[in-house]
Amino acid sequence: MNARDRIIVPLDVGSLDEARRMIDALSEEIGYFKIGNELFTAAGPDAVRMVTDAGCRVFLDLKYYDIPNTVAGAVKSAVSLSVDMLNMHILGGRAMMEGAVRATRETASPPILLGVTVLTSYDEAGWKETGFSQGVTDAVPELALRAKDAGLDGVVCSPREVKDLRRLMGKEFVLVTPGIRPSWAEAQDQKRIMTPKEAVAAGSDYLVIGRPITGAADPREAARRVADELEVA
Ligand code: C5P
Repeated sequence: MNARDRIIVPLDVGSLDEARRMIDALSEEIGYFKIGNELFTAAGPDAVRMVTDAGCRVFLDLKYYDIPNTVAGAVKSAVSLSVDMLNMHILGGRAMMEGAVRATRETASPPILLGVTVLTSYDEAGWKETGFSQGVTDAVPELALRAKDAGLDGVVCSPREVKDLRRLMGKEFVLVTPGIRPSWAEAQDQKRIMTPKEAVAAGSDYLVIGRPITGAADPREAARRVADELEVA
């Protein structure tokens, strides 16, 4: 996979105008944009169309978690918007995930369906408070296996999990990794970071890279720099 297809830049903004500026600045270097709850709640499907009209792909990061019928309906709506990747909480359960998979069956090119294991904002104590006796380290691979079993294509995971998950889940399972920082960028609030090259070497397929690119003085130059780093053998 070349760097343009591997790097996903999140459009973590609250308006179409801001999103448009970012897409205009980056669409020559970046082929994939992530639309999350902030932009989708503000701008809805227009945000998706803005990205696809620029010839780029969309990861719709809305982390569905609802009854199976509702999630299946949401997935159908996402399919009709031609998104390339979307996600849901694995904790939504097998029936919900299977319903999501079925909802994509009639599409010629179905989106990549990803599961969210444990939000990285949880620490052990916060995670246990939700009622789980298992620690985060054990819960992540178990949830990933449940996702695979229900027919999902992959999971979002932190760089520290990618190596073990790649070994456990096999070659075809898609691993999407945020928490990426090039060596020349600041870590900001991300704690367990890897460089783009390290993450790919550990087994990551797609890299979500936000502020090192979007917050740079020259985002396009920063995107090019990351892409160049990845393409050097
Ligand atoms: O700016 P930064 O590179 O930290 O952005 C990372 C993106 O990935 C943000 O959109 C953030 O919400 C998302 N994300 C994350 N950690 C996760 C899941 C998603 O940072 N575990």
